[in-house]
Amino acid sequence: MGAPLELTEIELPAPGPGQVRVRLAAAGVCHSDLSLSNGTLRAATPVVLGHEGAGTVVAVGEGVTKVREGDSVVLNWAPACGHCHLCEIGEPWLCENSYAASVETYAALKDGTGVFPGLGVAAFAEETLVRENAIIPLPEGVPLTSAALLGCAVLTGYGAVHNAARVREGESAVVFGLGGVGLAVLQALRIAGAGPIVAVDVTPEKEELARRHGATEFVLADEQTAKTVRKLTGGHGADHAFECVGRSTTIRTAWNSTRRGGRTTVVGIGGKDDQVSFSALEVFHFARTLTACVYGNGVPERDVPLLAEHVRAGRLDLDALITDRITLDEIPAAFDRMKEGKGGRSLVVF
Ligand code: APR
Ligand code: ZN
Repeated sequence: MGAPLELTEIELPAPGPGQVRVRLAAAGVCHSDLSLSNGTLRAATPVVLGHEGAGTVVAVGEGVTKVREGDSVVLNWAPACGHCHLCEIGEPWLCENSYAASVETYAALKDGTGVFPGLGVAAFAEETLVRENAIIPLPEGVPLTSAALLGCAVLTGYGAVHNAARVREGESAVVFGLGGVGLAVLQALRIAGAGPIVAVDVTPEKEELARRHGATEFVLADEQTAKTVRKLTGGHGADHAFECVGRSTTIRTAWNSTRRGGRTTVVGIGGKDDQVSFSALEVFHFARTLTACVYGNGVPERDVPLLAEHVRAGRLDLDALITDRITLDEIPAAFDRMKEGKGGRSLVVF
């Protein structure tokens, strides 16, 4: 991990039983790709990154029934196995085997070295090979390129609001971190009818972007952020906070920004050595909830059609999330923009 990105040829085999080969139309650049490339998150290497993709089925292996050649699909980076304990109790987003594909090689370099698919999907490539359960058929009416964003940022952001936190109309909310994920959370809050919707970031240029996605207030993060958010939410604090950065400090500030009994949903993925601490007294006194949400705590096969309906009705604007359309060789520059907190989503268009 930490090695520079490289653009190279790989040999992709024909789909085996239960596998589907997909030609990518587009793939979004997510912070988790950056975290995988710099070692904040671990992955078996060499790895093809990219886990937010959509494309067209070009071949299916034996026994595949879900899709046919020519179908438009979204890729699912955390497919549920359907038979582990957590799938059986109805929490497939926590499936014990959802990362199974990412620890097996799926293709090879020219010299025969096995290559791993980043988060099981390997979407930063012209074509990929996934298991049938990692395929979600794309409903009509959603352009294939922008549909890529459904695969991570939007499923995650929408699910954080509607499945995990279950925000109701009129509730107040604050969102920390306005990258693709945080902006998708803002749009989901707008759909939920939440208000006020406060957006927080360290970069002032995110204000305009945030307001376009549904924020009614913008706060430039500083020492006083929690106090400012409480002031903007009737003096009590927000009913809901969403942490879309993945850092202990923002988790702590998010928690401090909620009202007594408020709920913080951690969406960002942080490092393993980054500790968050709370005093035993404050945990009791404030009776707040701190919880995380994985891939929107949802069921992609159920949620993608729902999201498509929002897109068709004009409630969900996928294109607004895309601030840069790039080619594969421009991913390092997209990572640089991300490190500087610039823009919304960069989308690799093939
Ligand atoms: N307070 C508020 N915002 C912050 C702070 C901070 N202390 N530090 C960084 N940010 C902002 C950045 O300026 C940027 O706008 O957080 C945003 C993060 O956006 P991206 O890097 O584009 O990340 P994104 O792809 O949206 O992912 C967010 O979710 O899926 C996880 O691994 C992913 O942890 C990451 C998080
Ligand atoms: Zn992602």
